[in-house]
Amino acid sequence: MNRSKPVDTLTLRSVSKDYQSGGTNRRVLDNIDLDVARGEFVGIVGTSGCGKSTLLRLIAGLDREYDGDILMNGKRVAGTDLARGIVFQDHRLLPWLSVERNIALGLMNAPGTRAEKEQTVREHIALVQLEGYEQARPHQLSGGMAQRVAIARALINRPEVLVLDEPFGALDAMTRSYLQRSLAHIWAREQATMVLVTHDVEEAVLLSDRVVVMSARPGRIRRIVEVPLARPRDPASPEFAAIKADLLSDFREIGSTLAAPDALYPAASVESTADVRIASGAR
Ligand SMILES: Nc1ncnc2c1ncn2[C@@H]1O[C@H](COP(=O)(O)OP(=O)(O)OP(=O)(O)O)[C@@H](O)[C@H]1O
Ligand SMILES: [Mg+2]
Repeated sequence: MNRSKPVDTLTLRSVSKDYQSGGTNRRVLDNIDLDVARGEFVGIVGTSGCGKSTLLRLIAGLDREYDGDILMNGKRVAGTDLARGIVFQDHRLLPWLSVERNIALGLMNAPGTRAEKEQTVREHIALVQLEGYEQARPHQLSGGMAQRVAIARALINRPEVLVLDEPFGALDAMTRSYLQRSLAHIWAREQATMVLVTHDVEEAVLLSDRVVVMSARPGRIRRIVEVPLARPRDPASPEFAAIKADLLSDFREIGSTLAAPDALYPAASVESTADVRIASGAR
């Protein structure tokens, strides 16, 4: 991967999106411009409702109604494609299929013999460290394990771009930390291009080359922060803490423009929260 001469895999040009509700037109995304280079890890943070999931759905091709251009390797995105994988916050596994068969689903329309596909499934089970659970059903897995199956399923077609929408949001801190490290490992090993939406600023700094900060109503890119730290990153280092604090200062500003529950959570208590799950986050 040559990071000094980046090649843009994904290009967003003046992307805007409106939703109609109750007979009125509401702009959700406004003039989003973003280039994601091949092999880059881009984090997206922003308050609840600012349009992050909407943006990921457009990138994944799940929603084709938008203004502007979303290009992959110069070609306009027109629907879903094996070249772009998606991982949602909930794992969305089929409950009646085993781990193995859930992962294999991703290969249904892919070329290759049955033996080759079985081998690919085995490799991906190993990649997310779920050997021994091949025959388990989703209800027999923990939330973190199910999420790893979802990641394996999304990776199995070797998508050029993997978009992840708060994949670890519902997990406890230790599982989240474990999966963050796994994702960093997979990203480095697969030389994948990843776009991760998260409410967790620390997670964004831990994993991303650049963090996109969005503002709300309508969703716009407020600024893009580079994270020039070597990996693996140490959240306890002063350099890490400085970038995190810089990003959090944006949220205090954005938060002050929202109808934030200031009476319940005075600004001082927000500042002292170590693992800030973004002050005005919905969950
Ligand atoms: N299908 C829809 N129809 C109408 N409005 C929608 C639809 N989907 C989303 N919206 C609106 O678009 C805005 C952005 O929603 P989106 O889900 O993209 O936010 P988000 O940034 O992902 O929020 P969160 O952090 O809570 O997941 C919200 O105001 C939401 O109400
Ligand atoms: Mg969302």
